[in-house]
Amino acid sequence: MANYTLKVRRYQPESGEGAYWEEFDVDLDPSLSVLDGLLQAKDRDDGSLSVRCSCRAAICGSCGMKINGQSGLGCKTQVGEAQSHANKMASASGPKVDGAAPGRGSEGASQSDLCDRAGAEETARKRFSGD
Ligand code: FES
Repeated sequence: MANYTLKVRRYQPESGEGAYWEEFDVDLDPSLSVLDGLLQAKDRDDGSLSVRCSCRAAICGSCGMKINGQSGLGCKTQVGEAQSHANKMASASGPKVDGAAPGRGSEGASQSDLCDRAGAEETARKRFSGD
């Protein structure tokens, strides 16, 4: 196990304020994924942290996000690998995660948690009903 600090870009449109970065300390084996780190932060620190995911096996693509400024899958990118990349970038103190995947804008950070089946069904219902 190792400690990592995930810097997560967040956006809460109802606050009326712009996007901001927030740090979460997580304790993970380096071989676990950035997505595992985000889910740990959500479970331990802030239940309002929204994460898109479904298969957790690099198949569905729903966990697409920017990690250290590059597009990737949160469930496929190992947190140790992301930390090494962040260290090479020198200016970052830990993996930086932006939930907004390319083409999704910042809405990705405010979507329901698709790891939760009930949340996924609610999101699908809203999309198809136009609510
Ligand atoms: S959760 Fe499906 S690709 Fe990551």
